[in-house]
Amino acid sequence: MATKARGKVSGKKSSETRMIPIYIMGKKYEVPETLTILTAMEYAGYRHIRGCGCRGGICGACATVYRLSGEYRLKFGLACQTVVAPDMYLAQIPFVPANKAIYDIKKLTPDINSIGRVYPDLYRCLACNTCSKACPMGISVMDYVQALLKGDIAECARLSHSCTMCGICALRCPAELQQFHMAMLARRLYGRYLQPRARHLEKRVKQIKEGKFDSMMDEIMSLNNHELKRRYARREWEPESYENPDWQPEETKYL
Ligand code: FES
Repeated sequence: MATKARGKVSGKKSSETRMIPIYIMGKKYEVPETLTILTAMEYAGYRHIRGCGCRGGICGACATVYRLSGEYRLKFGLACQTVVAPDMYLAQIPFVPANKAIYDIKKLTPDINSIGRVYPDLYRCLACNTCSKACPMGISVMDYVQALLKGDIAECARLSHSCTMCGICALRCPAELQQFHMAMLARRLYGRYLQPRARHLEKRVKQIKEGKFDSMMDEIMSLNNHELKRRYARREWEPESYENPDWQPEETKYL
């Protein structure tokens, strides 16, 4: 959700930057053409209290629907990643209230029956590909839904890996699926039951629980800013693995 801020919000504009008209929820503003939708809205005086999170294309909070002048087609994008265009008509969608099932992952098995039980809407997929066309991350949403229908949870997890959970796929789906929540379930099942175990990670977690790093953390927490920065600047760099595959750090007591 974006609200109009009181007073002037500063924006960056060099003398050569061209100003272009955009329409935010129907109202016209002139903004620098180099801004993203997110920063253009702030330039126009909007303050984001929802609909904005990481500003880096990860969290999916800034889903935006827009249309370009002269076109009839609605387009979708992440406001923090999409640069404004002349006569862009836009509105933000801060939240998609799609059905998110409650389940206990420990009681599920990694197969189609589990997913079908939790999200029976899956079987309504028309394979129309509207979801893929709407995805601002360019994910083949229909393909991962089809993978799920074949019981291929690993493939669904792989194809949906960069999903930001913005929910636009569900918003556009004529069969009213909740694709993004289904894919999240697939990734959870994959991570819990199918992905090969990382033995070195298990070992490290055990060491952390046993307190192997407690004294090191205590020492770091006791340092002042200056000493922290000094140590950070002088830290040992791990080389690229192809440069020295046998590399070991000088300090080995925490390995
Ligand atoms: S603010 Fe997080 S994806 Fe845009």
